[in-house]
Amino acid sequence: MCGIVGYTGTNQASPFLLEGLQTLEYRGYDSAGVDILSPDGGLHGVKCAGRVATLVERCAQANLVGTCGIAHTRWATHGAPSDRNAHPHRDCSGTISLVHNGIIENFRELREELLANGHELVSDTDSEIIVHLVEESMQGPAKGDLLEAVRIATTRLQGSWALGVICTEQPGVLVCARKNSPLVITSDETGAYCASDITAIIGKSRHITQLEDGQLARLTPDGGIYVIGADGRHVPNPQTIDVSWSASEAKRGGYPDFMSKEVAEQPDAMTRLLANRLGDDGIVLDELNMTDEEVAAIDRIYIIACGTSWHVGLVAKEAIERWAKIPVSVEIASEFSYSSVLITEHTLCVVITQSGETADTLAAARRMKAMGCRVFSICNVIGCTAARESDGTIYVQAGPEICVASTKAYTSQMVASFLFALYLAHKNGNMGLDEVKEKYDALLEAPEAARTVLERSWQDRNAARAFQGRVSSLYLGRGVNATSAREGALKIKELSYLHAEAYPAGEMKHGSISMVEDGYPIVAVVPDDDTRAKMLSNIQEVKARGACVISVATDDDEDIAAQSDYVLWIPRMTEPMFNAIPAAVHLQLLARFVAVDRGRDVDKPRNLAKSVTVE
Ligand code: AGP
Repeated sequence: MCGIVGYTGTNQASPFLLEGLQTLEYRGYDSAGVDILSPDGGLHGVKCAGRVATLVERCAQANLVGTCGIAHTRWATHGAPSDRNAHPHRDCSGTISLVHNGIIENFRELREELLANGHELVSDTDSEIIVHLVEESMQGPAKGDLLEAVRIATTRLQGSWALGVICTEQPGVLVCARKNSPLVITSDETGAYCASDITAIIGKSRHITQLEDGQLARLTPDGGIYVIGADGRHVPNPQTIDVSWSASEAKRGGYPDFMSKEVAEQPDAMTRLLANRLGDDGIVLDELNMTDEEVAAIDRIYIIACGTSWHVGLVAKEAIERWAKIPVSVEIASEFSYSSVLITEHTLCVVITQSGETADTLAAARRMKAMGCRVFSICNVIGCTAARESDGTIYVQAGPEICVASTKAYTSQMVASFLFALYLAHKNGNMGLDEVKEKYDALLEAPEAARTVLERSWQDRNAARAFQGRVSSLYLGRGVNATSAREGALKIKELSYLHAEAYPAGEMKHGSISMVEDGYPIVAVVPDDDTRAKMLSNIQEVKARGACVISVATDDDEDIAAQSDYVLWIPRMTEPMFNAIPAAVHLQLLARFVAVDRGRDVDKPRNLAKSVTVE
């Protein structure tokens, strides 16, 4: 949560900083602020509650001049969204300015200590205490060296942080630091840049420096990037990556919103991931980094994830257990610390996370690692923390996903999970090569099926009318379709703030059917598979009680059409499990239309953030 961005160089800082904040706004959007070192030697800035657009308007009036600055867009954790709690925060003398993404867990003790030392704290945030710690070390042991002052300050902190710090005593110096919160750096001929996410700096250079946990960096106007470790020692070769995607991929490109763009990108994203994945020896998944013997010995899998990625885990479980016959537990990461874990030396932990920065997922993965378990991750964001801490990672290559609601990452993660399940099944002898090839060929149908659904978006447009004036809805399915129902319901909730409950269809009669009344919207995921006959009965049951039924059904299924008010048609898939992909695309489109009808900001739903870096 929260996005930070910083610049020092020869250009004016505010255009880059404000543009960077707009790119990062998906990370948090309840308040925003900017501070610039101005030529008169002072700090000048603006901060306010509300969206980045409000900040941009205020900055236009403030006429901020200067070539070194930091900026922040906030997702509130400590203290309400307000002008006062917005970042940047300054020290008592008003000469040091700081932005922070993360949570300082020991802030109460530090706050007490700082107040006792005579500091004046003006916000309710945990972040503000850091700038006062920097102030103390600047005046004390760091002797005016900002990098050293920030390093000393971070030794007092517990929790997570990505920091950007500037001060009037060292004009042009921008110090960054990170621990458990993402931070990337780059430079070009006009200066050096830092940001929470590559999307904000990719337009400057594709060559990205990634700070490791505990590292700090001093950026200078000549583009210099000097990295040190938590112990203060110089790190001569910090980790760098070259990003393959371009700045334009992180822009809206003519679509009304990022969600529309990202939904439309799904066929291409899946095609990319599927390319060259079948070799002479079955599925190619070198990213797992395990020998054939190690793979064949896997006796249990823990899948750990949150939200939409957790839904991918449920689908992956079906595929792995069915094809590879390995028992799988799918864990909600935030609940994982309370569960007892039974591992053997052959247990594999799989973390599924689009951003690779989700705090709950990282904490759970670390717990598994500490227990000696090998960790494999399925991620989208290149170089993310989850990937860096895993023994192997498959990148789903969906490209930057900006809309808070996950769409293209979901379907690509599913494709990656299917590949993984086929890989396991072949390596442990539960599936012969011919069958692997058949399944892979069937999986190749997924991009085209998604494309077909996109061409049918008018069906979702029509069906969205069923939600008008409604306060609640029910999503039903059986087997893997129950997971599609869960994901569809999550999409409706997060985008339109309309209550939606997902239920295994057979369980409905044990309670939730009492909600059904005239016109009550029910979305039934009922493709032509072994769940269809029983689903048809469930649809008749709710129809008899006046429900308005929207079915996701396989082309030409007239029986389903006869019982439904609206049908979202999906093409026939050779492998029934892969119905989850075109079904997901319909349910994404449906959720978007319902949200648009309600006047919601589909890219930035209230209270949410793209990357949930707090536990
Ligand atoms: C999905 O639409 C959500 N915004 C959310 O549930 C998300 O999937 C979850 O926070 C996990 O994120 P991750 O995949 O980046 O770990």
